[in-house]
Amino acid sequence: MTEKPWSGRFTAPTDAFVEAFTASVNFDQRLYEYDITGSIAHARMLAHVGVLSETEYKQILEGLTEIKEEIARDEFNWSVALEDVHMNIETQLTQKIGVVGKKLHTGRSRNDQIATDIRLYLRHEIDLIDTELTRLLTALTDVAEREADTIMPGFTHLQNAQPITFGHHLLAWCEMLMRDRARLQDCRKRVNTMPLGAAALAGTSYPIDRHYTAQLLGFDSIAENSLDAVSDRDFAIELTSFAAILMMHLSRVSEELVLWLSAQFHFITLSDAFCTGSSIMPQKKNPDVPELVRGKTGRVYGHLISLLTLMKSQPLAYNKDNQEDKEPLFDTIDTLKGSLRVFADMIPTIQVQRESMRIAAKAGFTTATDLADYLVRKGIAFREAHEIVGKAVHHCIEANCDLDALSLDTFQRFSPLIDDEVYEILTLEGSVNARNHLGGTAPSQVRAAIQRLRERLLMS
Ligand code: ARG
Repeated sequence: MTEKPWSGRFTAPTDAFVEAFTASVNFDQRLYEYDITGSIAHARMLAHVGVLSETEYKQILEGLTEIKEEIARDEFNWSVALEDVHMNIETQLTQKIGVVGKKLHTGRSRNDQIATDIRLYLRHEIDLIDTELTRLLTALTDVAEREADTIMPGFTHLQNAQPITFGHHLLAWCEMLMRDRARLQDCRKRVNTMPLGAAALAGTSYPIDRHYTAQLLGFDSIAENSLDAVSDRDFAIELTSFAAILMMHLSRVSEELVLWLSAQFHFITLSDAFCTGSSIMPQKKNPDVPELVRGKTGRVYGHLISLLTLMKSQPLAYNKDNQEDKEPLFDTIDTLKGSLRVFADMIPTIQVQRESMRIAAKAGFTTATDLADYLVRKGIAFREAHEIVGKAVHHCIEANCDLDALSLDTFQRFSPLIDDEVYEILTLEGSVNARNHLGGTAPSQVRAAIQRLRERLLMS
């Protein structure tokens, strides 16, 4: 039987089921690299302040480095009896280098150790997520540029509203994702603060140098209060809340892609590489990727609620409840990274069915607002112009025709101020080009927005 590092005050062995029930090693072993990095920095600091000798530090460094390689090669024997990643590694270290291994835990507790490990892990993952998010944003921007002039119907209530450019629609997604990116970068500041030195809860009696350790580990700041340092997981909640919002955005993008890929819309097609078939219907090409991302949004929301509930009402300082933070957090990160990766790869394969989009954009009197605005320019109050155009639309519905099919005579029955110009006003191009201001859908504005977006991407 493996002897537990805390066995001294116990006389009876742990119940076998309790041992398995309380263990976290099956999932927290994924933190091993951060755990070892943190331990090496801690040992080096202990040598720096004279608590360990230089020789002892070197032995610890060598032992931990070997263990890291063994784990990477999958040659490490993880033991549930040793509960978690920390005690597994520490026990193995002692087996390797003898009694010096037992000095590593001087001035430290698993409580500040795990809080440090999670922060190092998250900091690393945040940077990977940022890279994937940037890749997705770049892909969307490139398609937006290609489709800056492409006209599609813009919707409100999923009813045809006004013509817009497809580039403009894609840039709306980009803005959502840019705010997500800002949230991520903001969250990183609070993740990158060092709990180490808090020990179990109250700090330690050794003359530790926390600034030294923080510098070794690349932390921007040091946790001010030892009780808070070992206890709170608000940074993990923040990251998960960022992830939930980002997944919400991806689910909206997914929903639109699924709609547009349907025979009813037929706005876009996707490469075969990102679709799957049906085992019974030979003709099918299904948009599984966006559907799955839409579906995965739910589990990330669930993880956010799990973590919030995990922390709810917890008394200071560390409680074993916190061991439950890892699985939701890991799954959030995996789900998010996978979703971003597949989207960043898939978006460039979008082929636009420009003709279908154009036909759809014409349906439903989408340039009626342009006609009203035109009457306003002729001196009519907007509410009256609205009423006049409403009547003209009603007439067209009865006559089953488009507004631009009306003769000038007919137009003038609705308002004598209408002249020949009206036919230009009613075109799709006329409509989008007219919305020519910052934030508007005119192709020239879309191009300018793309320019600014590329600069913003480079700056942050
Ligand atoms: N496995 C624990 C966790 O994930 C590590 C800290 C355990 N601390 C303790 N005093 N039992 O939170």
